Amino acid sequence: MSSTPMNARQDAILARLSGSNIPVSGDNLADELGLSRAGIWKHIQSMRKQGIEIESYTGRGYQLKSDVLSPGILNRQLGDSLIGSTCIVLDEIDSTNREVMRQAEAGADEGLVIIANRQTMGRGRLGRSWHTAENSSLALSILLRPSIEPEKVPQLSLLTAVALHRALSKLAPNIGIKWPNDILYDGAKVAGILTEMRGEPGQVHAVVIGVGVNIRRPESGWPKDITQRVTDLSTASGKKTNRLETALAIIKEMELSYHEYLTNGFAPIREAWWQAHAASGHKVRAHGSDGYVEGIAEALDSDGALLLRVCGELQRFIAGDIELMGTN
Ligand code: BTN
Repeated sequence: MSSTPMNARQDAILARLSGSNIPVSGDNLADELGLSRAGIWKHIQSMRKQGIEIESYTGRGYQLKSDVLSPGILNRQLGDSLIGSTCIVLDEIDSTNREVMRQAEAGADEGLVIIANRQTMGRGRLGRSWHTAENSSLALSILLRPSIEPEKVPQLSLLTAVALHRALSKLAPNIGIKWPNDILYDGAKVAGILTEMRGEPGQVHAVVIGVGVNIRRPESGWPKDITQRVTDLSTASGKKTNRLETALAIIKEMELSYHEYLTNGFAPIREAWWQAHAASGHKVRAHGSDGYVEGIAEALDSDGALLLRVCGELQRFIAGDIELMGTN
């Protein structure tokens, strides 16, 4: 377990390079960061030795090729945000959700964010495994300690879907939510959410929200055992997307949505969720543990259950997956 070693100046250079799709000249870097050109070059060389790929183009400057997740950049860009008040980047871990839960049990503060380059036992919903392709997926978990009843914790998954939808929509158009909290582009899954809780009757001790985003198609292709249609954010946005900008966008939207929830309750989140839900008002097939039912998705209740109109009657659908059957 380690975080990427980086000093503040190197972080600043990386932050500037990772925010640009074109080379940035050594003169500009030097002016903006108050360093000499030779100083910039020394830092670039040092980062290259750490394995970070930075291309130099004669007469044009430097361009970042690696998708670097720098904890320094994250911590600095997030300022005094509650979510991400501590950001840790790990090279490898079993599961970021597990690691955040372990740290929660050891007393970590609300807002802790852990991101990993690799997960050896990434987990998905409904007991599925979650594949984190090295450097082409974002695996991020957040610790929350809200003063809410345990029954309301599913609302936080829906809140996360709304935050994720808002964040990813800024990077790619036509992003939608599919109940309960899959994020889709063009009907294929781009991101998923796994929420876990520790508590006792009447009291929540810790909620861990895990977010997995497919940033690029893995070089070796998608794993064969994936049964759903999947895609990635770079395909959805039509441009190279990186993990750092995606992580920052998600954390910032989580911060806004979480404060909105704590101040105004679930109603505005539920409304935003319903507006972004690809199947709102449409015919769906809902798969549960004992088969499936078909009906019109009519509403979302405050427990996060989907209300389906089936043969004229309203049925609550609490766990499982849905399949879109087209518009009604
Ligand atoms: C799903 O759609 O099934 C949920 C996938 C959630 C995956 C993320 S990756 C980061 C965090 N750590 C895990 O082990 N799982 C979540």
